[in-house]
Amino acid sequence: MAPKQTPGQADDPCTNSVVQFDTYPLEHVYRLVEPDPVLLVATGSLHEVTHNIMAIGFHMMMQHESPPLIDITLGPWDTSFALLQKYRTCVLAIPSVEMASDVVDIGNCSAADADADGDKWKRFALEARPIQQVATLLIAGPHILANIECVVEDTAFVRKYAMWALRPVKAWTRRGEPGTIFHHRGQGIMVTDGEVIDLSQRMVEWQEFLD
Ligand SMILES: Cc1cc2nc3c(=O)[nH]c(=O)nc-3n(C[C@H](O)[C@H](O)[C@H](O)COP(=O)(O)O)c2cc1C
Repeated sequence: MAPKQTPGQADDPCTNSVVQFDTYPLEHVYRLVEPDPVLLVATGSLHEVTHNIMAIGFHMMMQHESPPLIDITLGPWDTSFALLQKYRTCVLAIPSVEMASDVVDIGNCSAADADADGDKWKRFALEARPIQQVATLLIAGPHILANIECVVEDTAFVRKYAMWALRPVKAWTRRGEPGTIFHHRGQGIMVTDGEVIDLSQRMVEWQEFLD
């Protein structure tokens, strides 16, 4: 008989290595994205070894719930575009500031580059961690704060704006310290979060979005 396992043990791919993630409520996913961090996007299939990774600065929350939706701009100039078209799933990962230089480098090389060694995962010391949800992998690394598995919900604006409406189906945040996210001001200039100002007491009209 197989040994009894408690949640988070052995065959749970999200607790198997040093960096561990806990599930995060889908209805709160906007809280991860609303601050507008630079994101990593993983597309393709781990199983078929077509998985790729890139950086994006253009994205936004579209709606909170029923279902939550996130828009990303991911254009045909990216190799990842064809992968998103083919598999219609991706993972959005939130890196912390310690990874800022690597994120810029990830966004300055392509799987299609003639001189690419073909493996951005190895080059940037990122782990493509298998999962059994809709997407095929999580992006794991010491400076990855969260992963959001998404499916393509709507492609109405892809042709015109390279804009994909994504529906998060599962989200994970790293255990431990929350970490510092960073934002792109354009031209490779990044800014990190500063002082936290808690104005939740004033959110009198939006009680449904408070814990
Ligand atoms: C800071 C930063 C932000 C970026 N933002 C976007 C973006 O919002 N949308 C996009 O399509 N490409 C964006 N890129 C460019 C892609 O990351 C880049 O084209 C990448 O090489 C694509 O990789 P791939 O061809 O292997 O898919 C950004 C790059 C950087 C460095």
